[in-house]
Amino acid sequence: MEFIKVTEQKEPFVALIELNRPKELNALNRQLMEEVRDALQQLDKNDLVRVIIITGNEQAFAAGADIKQMADKTAIDMLMIDQFSTWDQIRKTKKPIIAAVSGFALGGGCEFVMTCDMVIASETAKFGQPEIKIGTIPGAGGTQRLTKAIGKAKAMELILTGRFLSAEEAFFYRLVNKVVPKEMYLYEAFQLAKEIAQLSPVAVQLAKESINRSFETHLDEGLTLERKNFYLTFASEDQKEGMKAFVEKRKPDFKGK
Ligand code: CAA
Repeated sequence: MEFIKVTEQKEPFVALIELNRPKELNALNRQLMEEVRDALQQLDKNDLVRVIIITGNEQAFAAGADIKQMADKTAIDMLMIDQFSTWDQIRKTKKPIIAAVSGFALGGGCEFVMTCDMVIASETAKFGQPEIKIGTIPGAGGTQRLTKAIGKAKAMELILTGRFLSAEEAFFYRLVNKVVPKEMYLYEAFQLAKEIAQLSPVAVQLAKESINRSFETHLDEGLTLERKNFYLTFASEDQKEGMKAFVEKRKPDFKGK
């Protein structure tokens, strides 16, 4: 594992996955997501693990999908690479996953948090879907999950402007379970994990599946539309300009083409 660290038994029955590309603010390249997928599949089969915590570092949970890896791709490249099939496998994890978030959770980072089951946030956490600023849209479930989580008006505002939510706002809009001081977010995530880990793993798994079913009816259809529209932005000059401008550290000049 190059981009994640897995600790199987930091506490009884609780495993920890740490995203570990600190210089890139844990930007989610394809290899990192494949490593997460592989780790989750193994932990799902491991009887000594009942609850999984996913975290980044103090500065960033993750600042999004890796823009440098995508910048020059065409819509057809994106379709053929099919990076989100890995995400589909991640969301099939049967055991509960708690995201412990400090710093940036943006774009794919915010979508990754919303793919988890519960969220403990440090007071420094910042959530957002800023894809619009680089000429594209969320592609890993943001238009669907954020809308279900915080409601249409606020989701529109965040996705159409790229504004961020502070941890307190994220709590207010029910995106996160709890906000704690930055020294405490991992500790609190472990407290929640340990409480769940004492209960029947069978009942916990069935409860998770049932809750997700209520939440995810129609999700597949929504994800498919979002994914296709995300790929379609890669046919525009604006996506090329937006991502190029990010890499070159300048303001993009969008032409509507
Ligand atoms: N992809 C690739 N590299 C990234 C990145 C990303 N998403 N986010 C940050 N980085 C890199 C930066 O390029 C920089 O690398 P260099 O030192 O080599 O230049 C390093 O991480 C540190 O970043 P900054 O210097 O930009 O740090 P900052 O503190 O000034 O700004 C930030 C922090 C506001 C999070 C800024 O980095 C940022 O805006 N990042 C991009 C956020 C974004 O647009 N995310 C959406 C991506 S698209 C997506 O996720 C699609 C999808 O739905 C799947």
